[in-house]
Amino acid sequence: MLANKCIVVGVSGGIAAYKAAEVVSRLVKLGAEVHVIMTESAQKFIAPLTFQTLSRQRVVTCMWDEPKEWEVQHVALADKADAFLIAPATANIIGKIANGIADDMLSTTVMATSAPVIMAPAMNVHMYANPVVQDNIGKLARLGVHFVEPGVGLLACGYSGKGRLAEVEEIINKVVAVVNSCQDLAGKKVLVTAGPTREVIDPVRFISNRSTGKMGYAIARAARERGAEVVLVSGPTNLDAPAGVQVIQVGAALEMYQQVQEHYPDAHVVIKSAAVADYRPKEVSDRKVKKKEGDLTIELERNPDILLELGQNKGDKILVGFAAETNDLVAYARDKITRKNLDFIVANDVTQPGAGFGADTNIVKLLFPGGQIEELPQLTKDQVANVILDKVVGLINKV
Ligand code: CTP
Repeated sequence: MLANKCIVVGVSGGIAAYKAAEVVSRLVKLGAEVHVIMTESAQKFIAPLTFQTLSRQRVVTCMWDEPKEWEVQHVALADKADAFLIAPATANIIGKIANGIADDMLSTTVMATSAPVIMAPAMNVHMYANPVVQDNIGKLARLGVHFVEPGVGLLACGYSGKGRLAEVEEIINKVVAVVNSCQDLAGKKVLVTAGPTREVIDPVRFISNRSTGKMGYAIARAARERGAEVVLVSGPTNLDAPAGVQVIQVGAALEMYQQVQEHYPDAHVVIKSAAVADYRPKEVSDRKVKKKEGDLTIELERNPDILLELGQNKGDKILVGFAAETNDLVAYARDKITRKNLDFIVANDVTQPGAGFGADTNIVKLLFPGGQIEELPQLTKDQVANVILDKVVGLINKV
């Protein structure tokens, strides 16, 4: 998967530095030429010899070594890299790179590279939560740095929480995805909606649905990785914002409607994976509704159909809808393509195991206006996201 690719791995000084040995070993096994640059503090945790043996390359440990060849080393590696991975990335190296400080071989080489940069942060839970660190991560993400988020668990410092280096598997997957991803959505603005909406009854109650937002977040993340500018209008979910994506949190369908309308004019692509409530309570009580004798009736009124309205003003935009059904999947999905004027629709039967709300996988059919149907096998939501985006790119290129 990484044959003929050069990956430069920066190892900075945290206890997770030992896990970078496994990362380097896996990258080499995937066929990559791997060059390791270690910071001075990384060398306190693990010996350069470990990386030298695993990568079968000389490890760069200092800016001031006698050059072995006549080339400026930090520029040579910066130019050679197909991707630059920093794992673990400490708060210090993140802060330096975010603020343009180049005072050692690692920070200098990163600054000189035009290859995609991937960082896998690892640090104490409070350091990771520190607003300064979060600001630096946000700044780098906006500049296009890819992040592999730390995991949650028991940390070496004794605390429990978010800060543990992501699993090696996850880091490798990210490197492979970044190296092999084409920036085929560069220059395009993609508007994605995700999650459920919440229709308020009173200050303590609402009507909602089982959507978790996983599919929409996967689409937003994949579109960003493929170079798009992404705005994600999200109903309430428990998911972390994908790096580099502008996330707008909303509650009710009417708020989603407003935000989508605002970002629609300059969007090239709209993917509406949100499960929007079709109705809202006609009256919202500003006090908690108290129980009384007998039954309670809540009168509902219609919400706007956001996608239907977008379809009426489609222009040359690409519109993708979703249809989550429990029966008559194809018939309902076909009707939605026509009624909402869509380029295609992603349909899934939510009663099927491996396809429903909250699952990490999905089993979908793609239906097109001409009547064609493409049935996909059970895939991860990340894979489904990329298939959807492949179709979108195909349509963009056809225009
Ligand atoms: N949708 C929307 N606004 C709504 C309802 C749905 O934008 N008020 C969008 C969804 O985001 C999805 C598509 O329309 O992309 C289909 O949603 P779905 O709820 O399956 O369809 P409805 O048109 O609401 O039809 P029904 O509830 O009768 O199945």
